[in-house]
Amino acid sequence: MARQPLLLSVFLLAIPSALGRIYGGINNLPLVEYDFIVVGGGTAGPVVANRLTENPQLNVLVVEAGPSHEGVLVTEVPGLMLQVQSSGYDWNYTTIPQSTMNQRILRYPRGFILGGCSSHNSMFWSRGSSDDWNRWASVSKDSSWSWKNVFPFMIKNERWTTPADQHDQTGEFDPSVHGFHGSIGVSTAGYPTKIDSRVLQTTQELEEFPFLSDYNGGRPIGLSWYQGNVDHGVRSTAATAYFAPEFLNRPNLHVLVNTKVTRVLPTAQKTNVFRTVELGNDNRTLRQLTARKEVILSAGAINTPHILLHSGIGDANELQNLGVPLLHSLPSVGKNMTDQPYVSLVWTVNSTAPPINGTAALEEWNKTHTGPFTMSPTASNHIAFLRLPNDSSIFQTNLDPAAGTNTPHMELTPLDNGGLFQTSNGSFVSMGITFLTPTSRGSVSITSSDPFDPPRIDPNLLASEFDIFTFRETVKASQRFFAAPAWNDYVIAPFQPPANATSDEDLDAYLRGSAIASSHGSGTCAMSTQDAPYGVVNPDLRVKGIEGLRIVDASIMPFVPAGHTQVPVYVIAEKAAHMIKAAWNLV
Ligand SMILES: Cc1cc2nc3c(=O)[nH]c(=O)nc-3n(C[C@H](O)[C@H](O)[C@H](O)COP(=O)(O)OP(=O)(O)OC[C@H]3O[C@@H](n4cnc5c(N)ncnc54)[C@H](O)[C@@H]3O)c2cc1C
Ligand SMILES: *[C@@H]1O[C@H](CO)[C@@H](O)[C@H](O)[C@H]1NC(C)=O
Ligand SMILES: *[C@@H]1O[C@H](CO)[C@@H](O)[C@H](O)[C@H]1NC(C)=O
Ligand SMILES: *[C@@H]1O[C@H](CO)[C@@H](O)[C@H](O)[C@H]1NC(C)=O
Ligand SMILES: *[C@@H]1O[C@H](CO)[C@@H](O)[C@H](O)[C@H]1NC(C)=O
Ligand SMILES: *[C@@H]1O[C@H](CO)[C@@H](O)[C@H](O)[C@H]1NC(C)=O
Ligand SMILES: *[C@@H]1O[C@H](CO)[C@@H](O)[C@H](O)[C@H]1NC(C)=O
Ligand SMILES: *[C@@H]1O[C@H](CO)[C@@H](O)[C@H](O)[C@H]1NC(C)=O
Ligand SMILES: *[C@@H]1O[C@H](CO)[C@@H](O)[C@H](O)[C@H]1NC(C)=O
Ligand SMILES: *[C@@H]1O[C@H](CO)[C@@H](O)[C@H](O)[C@H]1NC(C)=O
Repeated sequence: MARQPLLLSVFLLAIPSALGRIYGGINNLPLVEYDFIVVGGGTAGPVVANRLTENPQLNVLVVEAGPSHEGVLVTEVPGLMLQVQSSGYDWNYTTIPQSTMNQRILRYPRGFILGGCSSHNSMFWSRGSSDDWNRWASVSKDSSWSWKNVFPFMIKNERWTTPADQHDQTGEFDPSVHGFHGSIGVSTAGYPTKIDSRVLQTTQELEEFPFLSDYNGGRPIGLSWYQGNVDHGVRSTAATAYFAPEFLNRPNLHVLVNTKVTRVLPTAQKTNVFRTVELGNDNRTLRQLTARKEVILSAGAINTPHILLHSGIGDANELQNLGVPLLHSLPSVGKNMTDQPYVSLVWTVNSTAPPINGTAALEEWNKTHTGPFTMSPTASNHIAFLRLPNDSSIFQTNLDPAAGTNTPHMELTPLDNGGLFQTSNGSFVSMGITFLTPTSRGSVSITSSDPFDPPRIDPNLLASEFDIFTFRETVKASQRFFAAPAWNDYVIAPFQPPANATSDEDLDAYLRGSAIASSHGSGTCAMSTQDAPYGVVNPDLRVKGIEGLRIVDASIMPFVPAGHTQVPVYVIAEKAAHMIKAAWNLV
């Protein structure tokens, strides 16, 4: 995320879809019976559809509300990340006024295109800590979710590549923990910035920021080189990778775009079998389709609970009040929404370097897939993950919500904003900070019985003492970072928050007044043990008490990992496909 998008002229290249089986509307869809219907062609959906159609006996339909990704240049150029969100490829959601954030209404971006959020996110590639996965295994009482046991899916999903500028990556990552033959292209940063050497020098000057060779090895504590889903300068997404032409050409894979799933329906009256989906568009429902085997909900942490609630699957009282007939009571649907607050801290710097010229950067990218636009404007060349010190005063009153001692509480991303974000009258460096282990929980709910109405999104950020304390500590850590000798002749003064914001109260006011959601929404259809009195899915991701319906997306996360969420979503999806094949004896 970022504070100030640079205005660029966007070249929207619309090439009509010539490849594969992407159908533009319901009327174009051939009359085929589908074994599986996947709802949402976002990050998780394409993975599930790709893996299931490896078996030529299975017909799979993916239904995506947004358009095809093919030929959409803004999704391919990492440097145009912010433009994707304002080019019609987003759901345009906002949160309810956040009482903990000065009553501000926050944007809540969600990809509205094949590839979903993977088509417009910041491309940070992070797995979380080993503890995060081991905690999932522990709360689900299913050891197949442990770090050790999901590791093969991380490898299966990942295809480590050379960075855009072809520089030698030796020492910038640990090859022993990466996959080189998987689907998503991943590399270190492909364009050097003028602060890189100072950032690395800081790791030698401050014990608090030790250099770590790779933050994806299970213990992300320290400062490492960035890893991003950028493949030779081009954004690598669930759509470009798992819906590559060779897969779309499979005769058993069908992708329907520009079509919403409004509800899931019982497949026979008075049963708990939900294998039927209702499709629609432009505020009208149009058709129903029934899967022979299963419906897989992969509509994401906001829209999966939205679909369930409109289908009458949720909290009985809440649905009754809205006139939605209750078909299956599951009070946890939409509850426990978790997200991580993010804010940008800015300092003025001693630099006369000209700002990056967006037109020239796009021309360079177009010619050779190199240059500053091989990076998202919000991605930094380095990432520091830190834990609160053991003797932190907050632990006198609060238990540590982190999953274990391999798990960071905070993330700091130093950005050379004197480049892309340089304004006409100053040069800046910034620190993007994310608070990773929130104790606050929010919710996703509905406000009417009309499935075309948008959901009510309440991430409820910074609602606890632990959360604001730790976020404030992240500001202080950032201040110490830029106070290191490495920055002596470079960083001039704080700009945002200003130098006179010195007390804890001043910092809190800045955080509550400026922070946004990182769009790592999760937990709204959480996985729990088979017999738990709460939760929405069992450890095999089947919806509790229902047959024929599974959830495979960020909503099933019982706790948000201490990092970014797309790798965990890929892991969930690869693992789910494996479990589904096993359940139907299709391996
Ligand atoms: C702006 C932004 C920046 C981010 N940055 C990063 C980052 O740098 N690194 C990282 O790891 N993570 C990042 N994330 C988070 C990460 O991208 C998401 O957690 C992840 O991609 C979610 O995957 P998903 O499959 O759960 O949902 P999505 O990717 O949202 O997929 C859901 C899909 O379902 C479709 N859909 C929804 N409702 C319906 C319906 N009713 N009918 C049909 N189709 C429907 C949607 O259009 C979408 O394509 C970011 C997210 C955003 C929004
Ligand atoms: C979001 O807004 C843009 C621009 O106003 C529009 O083109 C797009 O269709 C909207 N997205 C959805 C899902 O309605
Ligand atoms: C759907 O209904 C909403 C609210 O009534 C309206 O704002 C919107 O324009 C309608 N969309 C279409 C495509 O008709
Ligand atoms: C939220 O999650 C916690 C576990 O972290 C659980 O105890 C609680 O019951 C959940 N709440 C709901 C409404 O599902
Ligand atoms: C930016 O680059 C373009 C294309 O190279 C060039 O025409 C333009 O003059 C440059 N703008 C500035 C402000 O340097
Ligand atoms: C990219 O290059 C092609 C020619 O190779 C040209 O037709 C197109 O206009 C260029 N697009 C941009 C965005 O510069
Ligand atoms: C903090 O506590 C944990 C768990 O007790 C321990 O493993 C770790 O070594 C401690 N760290 C420091 C810096 O003392
Ligand atoms: C740049 O200009 C704006 C508006 O004129 C002002 O608020 C800001 O303080 C200036 N920044 C610097 C670094 O001088
Ligand atoms: C600014 O940087 C130059 C070298 O690039 C240095 O000589 C000068 O002392 C610096 N100024 C400040 C205020 O740090
Ligand atoms: C800092 O100074 C500005 C400008 O003088 C003032 O508006 C602001 O209230 C001050 N902030 C604090 C926290 O003192």
